[in-house]
Parts: sequence; structure tokens; C-alpha cells
Amino acid sequence: MTRKQIILGAHFPGVNNMTVWSDPRAGSQIEFEAFRRFAQAAERGKLDFLFLAEGLRLREQRGRLHDLDVVGRPNTLVILAALAAVTSRIGLAGTLNATYNEPYNLARQLATLDHVSAGRSAWNVVTSPGAFTGENFRRGGYLPFEQRYERAREFVTLARQLWDGGRHDFDYQGPQFDVRGRYDVPAPPQGHPVIFQAGDSSAGREFAAGTADAIFTRHGALAEGQAFYADVKGRLLRYGRAPGELKILPGVGVVLGDTAEEAAARYAEVRRQQVSPQTAIVLLEQVWNRDLSGYDPDGPLPDIEPDLEGSIVARGRTRQHDDNAATAGRWRELAERDGLSIRELIIRVTGRQQFVGTPAHVADEIDRYVQGDACDGFIIAPHLLPAGIEEFVSRVVPLLQEKGVFRREYRGQTLREHLGLPPAQRHFQPQAEAVTH
Ligand SMILES: Cc1cc2nc3c(=O)[nH]c(=O)nc-3n(C[C@H](O)[C@H](O)[C@H](O)COP(=O)(O)O)c2cc1C
Repeated sequence: MTRKQIILGAHFPGVNNMTVWSDPRAGSQIEFEAFRRFAQAAERGKLDFLFLAEGLRLREQRGRLHDLDVVGRPNTLVILAALAAVTSRIGLAGTLNATYNEPYNLARQLATLDHVSAGRSAWNVVTSPGAFTGENFRRGGYLPFEQRYERAREFVTLARQLWDGGRHDFDYQGPQFDVRGRYDVPAPPQGHPVIFQAGDSSAGREFAAGTADAIFTRHGALAEGQAFYADVKGRLLRYGRAPGELKILPGVGVVLGDTAEEAAARYAEVRRQQVSPQTAIVLLEQVWNRDLSGYDPDGPLPDIEPDLEGSIVARGRTRQHDDNAATAGRWRELAERDGLSIRELIIRVTGRQQFVGTPAHVADEIDRYVQGDACDGFIIAPHLLPAGIEEFVSRVVPLLQEKGVFRREYRGQTLREHLGLPPAQRHFQPQAEAVTH
């Protein structure tokens, strides 16, 4: 049986505490030089694409900022356009939310990016989890959960109509949008930029199954990945799509060492950097729903119980704990059993799963997940930027190439070709004559 070819992306996140900017080896999160180094290293490794997250407002809680969050995050589309000029083959994927943007404007911008990059653009459609982000926008409010996905679905449908028509007059009326005018950017080289989706709920998966070319998801244990993969691929049938038309790509951290012991020691250090004392308290407050700023992060858990009645103090958090009482109970039990301080506990119970070990071990694990149908590849999220991706490219990628599961050279030109996606389906023929002047 032929082995699946692995898809690899390189993630420049920086909107949460997983990226360690406090480390002296970390680059800048705003200077273009960091993005250039990152992109060119990923392209040297023949990775499929690089990927930028989006955070339009600093995360805050009770008026305090998470101390490790990036301040001064540059605009995604501007960075991708600049990277198009210093790279030639790697895909350029940007996270841009469908909740606060407008289809006409974003469709033009993405089509333009596809033109300037000769068919390498991708749009990660998020609905954005932060209610507080709405305060940045004139509209102010925030849509209820279901409506956010309805808006996203219609947003992408409308954007595709605009792309399909090239330069044309359009008149669109739907439940979410009512827009008309003359669209003026010629059809993108890829037909449609590649569409990613990031959102794990059932509504998010359904949106992806009907609409997206790839899912950016969280990484878990092998069995969890297999269940997610089977669930999402199973949904494709209802939309008349084949399993290969939607790629499943979890984000994953990688910590390398010359020996397993060295990697484990590095990992322990990375986790302490990711969970600073202030971050530990902030993450605990999200479960306790109380002001815990008076507690010592190196001391024991609070003796008071979580507030289950009061309004939620955590705003803009990326993950909701479904049941604070049960979570607090589990955390307390674990802390007592192993004698953990607040910070030690938070280091243990938060954070995404990572591949930790020698380059050979990490290459084996990546291959095992892909061949075991837990995913189609990974989006590598280094904790150190931009240097982390260079280490991955020089130490892990060659091992995957030796296994014959990762390309040694780019074959196609467009991101769709790298990902093995079928050409974009034209859904729409404009009624009006194309505008020729
Ligand atoms: C892996 C992953 C990455 C995400 N990245 C972003 C991001 O960069 N910016 C953003 O505003 N939202 C991001 N989101 C949030 C989603 O847009 C969505 O609002 C959130 O996950 C809630 O929807 P869900 O319940 O369907 O997961 C991400 C979600 C996931 C699962």
C-alpha cells in the first residue's frame, strides 16, 4: 500500500502564551525580519505553507493583560503580501475572521494576495472567540454562537461568487448580507484561495465539511485524532465531497533533544516559560471565576470554592471549561495527590500536546499519526520564533524525506497543488456581462 504523503505547515501564532517571547533567543513579533526568516526557513524545508493566527485585541481578564501576550501584532494580510515578495513556492495562509470583516472587501484583498503570490494564498476562516473584540468595531456587539457560523458560511459563499465572476456586476441578497455593485478584481489564479477553518464544535465541523479545504484543529492523543478524523471525513459525503477534499491538520508543538532525557528537560523548561506566575493565576481564575490575584502562584490552590453563580470574569478566553465545579475538583485532587503549587498544576493541566524527543522519535510520531488516519499532516507551532522552525526544518524534515513521506522538491506552483486539492469548483456564473474596461 502506498503511504500517505504528509502535509506540513509552519505556524507563527503569538496570540497566546504558547509562544515564548521572553526568551532571549526569541526574535521580534513585529519586525519583518522575523517573518522573512521564518518564511524562508519553512520554504527551505519545502513545507506546504506558513500560517498566521489572528488576535485583534489583547486578551484580558479583569482589566489585566496576559503578561506573555504579544503587544503590537502586525496585520496579517500586509505581512503575507510582503512575504509573497521574498518567497516563491510556499503557501501563505492567514487567519481572518468572518465575524467583523465584510465579504466584498476581504474577497478583494484575498484575490489580490492570490495574484501577487501567483496562486499561493489561503484564508483561515475563524468566527473569533472573543466577545470583547467587538468593542474594537463600530458595530460593537457580538453575534450568538450559531449566528457566527451562519454568517461565516454565507460570507464564504458570497466571497466565492465574487471570485468566480471575476470582474462583474453583482447583486446579492441573503439573510446575513445584502450587497450589490461592481466587483473589479480578476479571478484569482487558484480560482479560490484555499479555505481553512478553525473551530472544533459540531457547528464548526459541519461548516468545514460543507465549505473548507482544510481544518486547523487541536492535536490530541492518537485515538482522539482518529475519532475526529473519522467524524469530519464522514460528514463530507452529505455534501457530495470525497475524503481527500478536506485535509485535517492539527497544530502541534515540537521540542527536540539529542536524547529523550535532554528533550524532556527542555520541555519542562519550555512549559515554565509558557506558564509564567501571572499566567498561572489568570488560567486558574478562568475556572474559579473569582479574583485570585492575591494568591501566591508558588503556593497551594485556593481554599475557597469556585464561584458558580456570579457572572463570568474571563473574557475573550479561547477555551471554555464546560463544568467549572468538576474541573476544579479534578485539579484539586491532582494538586493534593502530587503536592503541586498553583503554577505547577497549571503547567501540568493546560497546554496542547506536543511531540517531545529526538528528531527520529518526532519524525516517527508525525508519520504514525498520518498513516494511522489521525490527520493528514501537522501545522508546526514552535514555541520559539523564528528559530524553532529552522531547527525543525534542519533536523526533522530530512528524516521524513528519507522515509519517503515528504517531498524533497516542490512540484506544483500553487498551494492547491502542494496540498493535492482538486481545482476550485466554480459555483457561480455571473448573470451580467463581464466588465471589459
Ligand atoms: C486550532 C484553533 C485555532 C484558532 N485560531 C484562531 C485565531 O487565530 N483567531 C481567532 O480569532 N480565533 C481562532 N480560533 C477560534 C475559532 O474561530 C472559534 O471562534 C472558536 O474555536 C469557537 O468555535 P468552536 O466552538 O466551533 O471551536 C481558533 C480555533 C481553533 C480550534
